[in-house]
Amino acid sequence: MRRATTIAEVRATVRAWRRAGERVVFVPTMGNLHEGHMSLIAAAREHGERFVASIFVNPMQFGPNEDFAHYPRTPQRDAHMLRAAGCDLMFTPEVEQMYPNGMGHATRVEVPGLSDILCGEFRPGHFQGVTTVVAKLLHICEPDAAVFGEKDFQQLTLIRRMVSDLCMPVRIIAAPTVRAADGLAMSSRNQYLTDPERARAPALYRALRAAASRIEAGERAYEGIESEGLRALESEGLRVDYFAVRRAEDLGPPTPECRHLVVLTAAHLGKARLIDNVQVRL
Ligand code: PAF
Repeated sequence: MRRATTIAEVRATVRAWRRAGERVVFVPTMGNLHEGHMSLIAAAREHGERFVASIFVNPMQFGPNEDFAHYPRTPQRDAHMLRAAGCDLMFTPEVEQMYPNGMGHATRVEVPGLSDILCGEFRPGHFQGVTTVVAKLLHICEPDAAVFGEKDFQQLTLIRRMVSDLCMPVRIIAAPTVRAADGLAMSSRNQYLTDPERARAPALYRALRAAASRIEAGERAYEGIESEGLRALESEGLRVDYFAVRRAEDLGPPTPECRHLVVLTAAHLGKARLIDNVQVRL
C-alpha cells in the first residue's frame, strides 16, 4: 500500500493508473475504521482495479460545540486495516493541505434545501462542510467511482445531488449499513456509549423497523407513525432530534405515488448522537 499526504502525490499515482486503463474507486473516511467501513471497502473492490482511501477528520463539518477535538483517531490501526483490505493508496492529508488558504474564507459547496433539513436543522453548517470536503477529495483523487454508506443516508443523498449538479464525472456507489447482531448500526460514535447505554441503543433500529413494517402493511398516516417512533425512543431514555418518513429520492415529504421511502432518525444517548435509517420499497 502506498501512502500520500499531498495532493500532487495522489494525482500522479491515480493518473498513472488511469492511463494504464485501471478503474480507480475511492472511499473517503474520517478514520477510526470499523466493520462498517470494511463493507465500503469491499464494495469498492468490486467496482475497480485500484482502491484509494482517504483519512481526514474534516474540521469544516464539525460545529463549535461538537466533538472535533475528541473524535477518535487511530491512524496506525487504520493503516493496518487498509493494508489488510488490499488498499492501493492511503491519503492522509493535514488540514493545511486541504484548506491551504484557511477555512474562514474558503470556497464552499452547498446543496440548498437538502443541507438544512433533518440533521442539517440540528447541525447547522455540517453538510456544507461535508459537501465541500467531498468535492475537494473527488477533485484530488479523480476516481471513476466513490463509495458512501447508506447509514449516512442524508449525506449520500446530498453527495449524489452535488455530483449531478456539478456534472462531476464520478459514479456514486451506495454500500448497505452494517449492523451488530442486535441491530445497532456500526459507527465510530458508538464508542461514546457506556455499557448500559449500549444495551439501550438498539431501540433506534427497533423503532425504525416498527415504522417500516407499518408502512409495508399499508399504513399511510405518516405523522402518526413518526410520533409513535419518537415516543418509543423517548420511552427508552433517548433525546430525539427527529423521527421522519421521507421520499428516498430527495428526502421530501412522501407523496401517494411514491414507492421508495426512507424512515430516518437521529437521537442522543449519553454523549453519543446516533443516526440510522431504514428504506421501504412498496
Ligand atoms: O462519512 C464520513 O465519514 C464523512 O462525512 C466524509 C464523507 C468522509 C467526509 O468527511
